[in-house]
Amino acid sequence: MAINSGILAIAIVGIITTGVVGVVTIIAMYKCAKFGVKTYLGQRSGGSRDREAEASITRDGERGSTDEAAAAADDDDVEMGSMSYFFEDIQKERPVRFSSQQLRTFTRNYAHKVGSGGFGVVYKGRFPNGAAVAVKVLNSTLGKRAEEQFMAEVGTIGRTYHINLVRLYGFCFDATVKALVYEHMENGSLDGYLFDPPPEKTVGFGKLYEIAVGTAKALRYLHEECAQRIIHYDIKPENVLLGAGLAPKVSDFGLARLCDREDTHLTITGARGTPGYAAPELWMPLPVTHKCDVYSYGMLLFETLGRRRNLELGLHARESQEWYPRWVWHRFEAGDTDAVVARAAATGTGDKKDREAAERVCKVALWCVQYRPEDRPSMGSVVRMLEGADQIAAPRNPSGAIQLWCDSVVRRHHQHRGFIWFLRPCA
Ligand SMILES: Nc1ncnc2c1ncn2[C@@H]1O[C@H](COP(=O)(O)OP(=O)(O)OP(=O)(O)O)[C@@H](O)[C@H]1O
Ligand SMILES: [Mg+2]
Repeated sequence: MAINSGILAIAIVGIITTGVVGVVTIIAMYKCAKFGVKTYLGQRSGGSRDREAEASITRDGERGSTDEAAAAADDDDVEMGSMSYFFEDIQKERPVRFSSQQLRTFTRNYAHKVGSGGFGVVYKGRFPNGAAVAVKVLNSTLGKRAEEQFMAEVGTIGRTYHINLVRLYGFCFDATVKALVYEHMENGSLDGYLFDPPPEKTVGFGKLYEIAVGTAKALRYLHEECAQRIIHYDIKPENVLLGAGLAPKVSDFGLARLCDREDTHLTITGARGTPGYAAPELWMPLPVTHKCDVYSYGMLLFETLGRRRNLELGLHARESQEWYPRWVWHRFEAGDTDAVVARAAATGTGDKKDREAAERVCKVALWCVQYRPEDRPSMGSVVRMLEGADQIAAPRNPSGAIQLWCDSVVRRHHQHRGFIWFLRPCA
């Protein structure tokens, strides 16, 4: 009996030991296999990446059409290699370098054009993992940017991270293609919701107010919070993109330093920004500071209030609404802010909250477009005033700007998206 118990105990211990050894062996084999696969993939993608970096400078110019098909066949491998790096780089907030061949694949040979502007043409594309991207192919007036300078500036843009800024995933710099790869914003840009929107894009003032506050926070970050202060130079509804739930994200920050612009965006040779939004100091020989963005932001606020372009030709002169900011100032001056607020809050609930928000937007807009940059608030102050955390003093007459812009405006020609106005300083 005693012998039997001993044998039983030994058998049980044996079975347990065998089980433990078996489990440990399986875990060890699994870990080894995982490490092996990882190392293999790492070598492959590292090789691909190095090849891309070297080849992207010369490849397109040299590669004949005959081996394009072969390259396309290889492409998925190359992409997947890069994609493993891509996610690592994304985590490290570093933009990824893509080859022009990869961009062609992402965009299905540039099949879906989303729009175009002063820097180039935007196409919709997809990464192999299905993530939608917007590829902005920069126009040839990129200037004589050296590759290192381009990459340094792209690096700055890529490391600039805020919930209200469009994320830069990567770029392409080779002999034929200079491009930026951004996250794709599914609801397009704010202009589509402000100016004669179709019913599905007609939103209440509360939503527009939220978009305005998000935009202000992005600018506050660029001006006051990020490591390297960035002046945007081109704030306008087209550069406020909307994601899920119409969450706003500012695009094209940092591009003014990176690219020269097409003539369509110049008011006077050498000036920056877009007519109608560019601060006076951008087209006059005056020092330019981050306050030029505050001015443009004020113009965007007027358009948010009025749901119209600030300058609308063809309106009856006696309505004096042709230049909307001037109309708003006259109403405010006459103590009739209600007229402005009623119009702003007409779409939506029109409740007390909307009306109070519209009144704050009206006053902040008037402060932002003060002629003298030093009279304009900082973007930090703009956010506080919009959110009701700071009292808003009664705005002064921004007549310097308004007079200058209205009374001396001269129509020169019709181009691009709407009228381009050339401005003549007052005598
Ligand atoms: N990341 C993006 N996601 C979705 N749509 C985009 C994206 N970037 C740009 N777009 C769309 O493409 C259009 C053209 O953009 P682009 O920046 O080239 O010109 P713009 O904004 O009109 O002028 P500017 O060159 O002064 O910025 C935008 O109006 C916007 O609707
Ligand atoms: Mg843009």
